[in-house]
Amino acid sequence: MSHQDAVTKLPKGFKTIASTKDSKLTIIEESKKKIYGVQFHPEVTHTESGKEIFRNFLFSICKIKKKWLISSEKNRLINDIKKIVQNDKVICALSGGVDSSVVALLVNKAIKKNLICVMVDTGLMRKNEFKYTYNQFKKKYKLNVKLVNASKLYQKKLINVYNPEKKRKIIGNLFIKIFEKVSKKYKSIKYLAQGTLYPDIIESRSATGSQSSKIKSHHNVGGLPKKMNLKLLEPLKEFFKDEVRILGKSLGLENQIRNKHPFPGPGLAIRIIGNITPKKIKILQEADDIFIKELVNHKLYNKIWQAYAALLPMKTVGVMGDSRTYEYTCLLRAVVSEDGMTADYYNLPKSFLDKISNKIINGVPGINRVVYDITSKPPSTIELE
Ligand code: XMP
Repeated sequence: MSHQDAVTKLPKGFKTIASTKDSKLTIIEESKKKIYGVQFHPEVTHTESGKEIFRNFLFSICKIKKKWLISSEKNRLINDIKKIVQNDKVICALSGGVDSSVVALLVNKAIKKNLICVMVDTGLMRKNEFKYTYNQFKKKYKLNVKLVNASKLYQKKLINVYNPEKKRKIIGNLFIKIFEKVSKKYKSIKYLAQGTLYPDIIESRSATGSQSSKIKSHHNVGGLPKKMNLKLLEPLKEFFKDEVRILGKSLGLENQIRNKHPFPGPGLAIRIIGNITPKKIKILQEADDIFIKELVNHKLYNKIWQAYAALLPMKTVGVMGDSRTYEYTCLLRAVVSEDGMTADYYNLPKSFLDKISNKIINGVPGINRVVYDITSKPPSTIELE
């Protein structure tokens, strides 16, 4: 198959049940002992009927019974939280992403008023996103949400910071400081609830104990508990993202949040290359908003794993009407992926690219050129910084 290696001889007692032009023994079977072998990856998304192969093997051949139901998992998780937390208080950093939203709803179902959710407005979110999420959780889900408006503070700290790692550190450390300050106001908080998922746990384990195990340490508020003396509550740590989305549905989490693309903690700061200014944030928010809305309108949003607009620091010459323009370049990125570790750029239709380019340039003063990123990961990363 794609690896160009092939097993060419059948073992004793086996017969071939599927083959291709390049690989004769694509699927083999030992029918008496019920042993099967495949020479391809049924688990990768590109394999047609891959899931069906697993389904047949598990349910028809192994006769495994399907007992795992998200509704019973939900009740088990809520009961577990009740048992662990009892009458103590829990604090949760709510970003409005799928994971922290599901954690907040779960913990709220278990302990209601003893959950304090903190939302820190860094001013680096997508257009209107922060306000929207806050209103949903406060008014619709009636959670105890505390809002901290820190956008001015973030802007001040990020003036003239060009280095990507420096940006990330400033943003992460400031977040921890703000979160600590807020939590000090509430006495007797014992737990910190986090949306750690099973892949995060796999990634943080390393057979060699090497540094690569720490690749994702910036992805959550991992630095908090040690300093603050809080115990971790991680109800989703045995779940995959798709299961968390289903769990979210059974908790009444609306589709807009449930099916949201991943969004990095440092937000738009790592999508504005180089120096960050309020004007650039505004320009990017507008362009990004147009891009995402058009993806939704064209029913492309749910086919893509992650999409965003970024603002490149260089200005180029353009022409609009009779005038010469000299403005920034907007980069669009859309990728398909399973887990963010590897990714392919999404093949957006040319008609869509034509339309989006016009819409952004006509609708967003400050941008006169739009480019589409056609690199995969590796060699690129999904984010630009
Ligand atoms: P990269 O750029 O490393 O991104 O290919 C892989 C995935 O991780 C997200 N990402 C982050 N998520 N905090 C987060 O919560 C971060 O600091 C961060 N950096 C990258 C990125 O959006 C993509 O989904």
